[in-house]
Amino acid sequence: MAAACGPARADLRNAYPHNAGTTQGAHDGGHAQIGASAPWSRSSPAPVQIHDQLDTGDRFDVADAAALPWPDGCVDLLVGSPPYALEVPYAGGDVPDYAAWLEALTAWLAELFRVANPDWGRLCLNVPLDRDLGGWEPVSADTIQLARSVGWQFRTWIIWDKLQAGAGTHRGSIDSAAAPNVTAPVESILVFYRGSWYRSGPAAMPHEAWLELCGPRGLWRFHGTSDPHSPAPFPEELPLRCVTLFSFPGDVVADPFVGRATTAAVAARLGRVVWAADRDAACVAAARAWVDRERRVHLAQQRVHLPQHSAADGLLRPQIEEVGN
Ligand SMILES: C[S@@+](CC[C@H](N)C(=O)[O-])C[C@H]1O[C@@H](n2cnc3c(N)ncnc32)[C@H](O)[C@@H]1O
Repeated sequence: MAAACGPARADLRNAYPHNAGTTQGAHDGGHAQIGASAPWSRSSPAPVQIHDQLDTGDRFDVADAAALPWPDGCVDLLVGSPPYALEVPYAGGDVPDYAAWLEALTAWLAELFRVANPDWGRLCLNVPLDRDLGGWEPVSADTIQLARSVGWQFRTWIIWDKLQAGAGTHRGSIDSAAAPNVTAPVESILVFYRGSWYRSGPAAMPHEAWLELCGPRGLWRFHGTSDPHSPAPFPEELPLRCVTLFSFPGDVVADPFVGRATTAAVAARLGRVVWAADRDAACVAAARAWVDRERRVHLAQQRVHLPQHSAADGLLRPQIEEVGN
């Protein structure tokens, strides 16, 4: 790890049990239930030692993903989904077309490579399998090629089945081979790394998660989600799986396209240090608020497990009283 990284990782490792999943809600009213198909994410928090977790090393930046204000080599895991040039109404607009997208993606991937830990940094990038706006394009295949061109090493290709098979009506030429359309109702989670895939660290993953997600399980099945306040979010299940599988407690987990903050909130909930960025200042503010709320929920849960007259009692009480405000 580069010397300039330095967040309070040891504190977070101690402060969060490895499987402290909760259903404490999204910033927009708790509509998104975490781990609907992941029972291993719902076990109760274990008693843990109390620290001042609000000094966590989290950071929140309004920035373009091609020029992040983050130091070299400090991020352990990146999880995110960029814009796809599909005319999504982001603040500031979407990338205009596929050619421009390939150019932008190259710059983003190079910047993500810079901030990733040179010895073990990992990237989980959610992109479509393909697209058909103004021409059919093999988005995932192109993304792999570009990622490798800027230094990332390819590890695996997870297929996310969004359980939408049969919903589409755009089948092309009716009853004819003239120009049929065949579109797989899936997206990709492309997994890359820098340095070595192997990392040393504790066996801190819930055993059920390892059983369920690893091995020949590169086909993930869970529904997508929508949010009236945020275009193109992914569901909590996606970062829940990626962060659980590909990072250790206390790691720096970053999302440079943080959107409504799905990755940031889940990473905080799982006891990771959160680095979040987005071009849209409103997204960054929402991310800070949701992460803060997750941290405070954890403090409150730990408070419940404290002995009646713990020495830490006085330290925590003011923070706990703010939960739910
Ligand atoms: C697909 S959304 C991310 C959604 C996120 N995964 C979630 O669950 O909310 C893409 C995000 O990238 C942001 N964005 C677009 N262009 C960007 C750029 N050049 N640099 C950084 N962020 C950008 C948008 O503002 C949007 O919030």
